[in-house]
Amino acid sequence: MRIVRTIAQLRKEVAGARARGSEVGMVPTMGALHDGHLSLVHAARADQGFVVMSIFVNPTQFTEAEDLEAYPRQEASDAALAEAAGVDVIFAPTAAEMYPEGFATTVHVGGSITERLEGETRGAAHFDGVATVVSKLLLACMPDRAYFGEKDAQQVLVVSRMVRDLGIPVRIVPCPTSRDEDGLARSSRNARLSEGERARALAIPRALGAAAAALASGECEAEAIREAAGRELAAEDLVAEYLAIVDPDTLDAVERVDAPALLAIAVRVGEVRLIDNAVLTP
Ligand code: PAJ
Repeated sequence: MRIVRTIAQLRKEVAGARARGSEVGMVPTMGALHDGHLSLVHAARADQGFVVMSIFVNPTQFTEAEDLEAYPRQEASDAALAEAAGVDVIFAPTAAEMYPEGFATTVHVGGSITERLEGETRGAAHFDGVATVVSKLLLACMPDRAYFGEKDAQQVLVVSRMVRDLGIPVRIVPCPTSRDEDGLARSSRNARLSEGERARALAIPRALGAAAAALASGECEAEAIREAAGRELAAEDLVAEYLAIVDPDTLDAVERVDAPALLAIAVRVGEVRLIDNAVLTP
């Protein structure tokens, strides 16, 4: 496995792989790798001969300076995990490589898919940062497929919209959320939870389960399903930033779950902001 730091070096590696007849898969990450990230690598590995992982803590998508500073950075252990999972090349650029002096371009995806949920709570700048960096990463690598986790369901929608709108020739492959054995969705931020906070955070997967159970018992009013989920959070004194049942394509709120709907949750546990979601299927 090689680690490259410039777009020019990455293009050389990818060109070499293509010359050898390989298709190319890309897994964009911000590092602090866990089994959730590695599940994307396994999916990419199964599809393609050559897998590129990017590791870049993208400053433009953080809306809180503390969150950016506290974000874990551990390149050496990440590289070992990536290599063991079958990554061929890590692209780990500097901020100056991605945002050279004078950088003045923003990729903005408009409409409800960026305005709701994360857009509403973290601010519109978050998805501008994501869309801008992901478009740069895709253009640097030009993979056949790029793999994204459904844990960030809204990000998958935004990236898919952007790729269609800009005509970037890449297939976006959504991958299922990987969870710890106790049900908590894997996240780099979990490392910042104290033992007590981690136990309280388990109310999040319980809330998803309670919503699915309410639906399975015949309840289809979104408000009642939301309340069932909210009770699990309240039992651990957690206040949701949002707890929403929405159309999975537009993210507009739905009143009745008579077609698949996305239940999306954002919660702060202590200082740590966690998100999770599940598709509710009647
Ligand atoms: P990051 O949070 O590092 O996540 C990288 C990829 O791993 C994303 O596609 C995310 O959805 C996926 N992922 C994270 N936890 C997961 C889990 N438990 N199960 C399955 N997939 C999971 O998302 C980002 O970085 C950034 O916004 C990025 C796309 C790299 C742009 O900067």
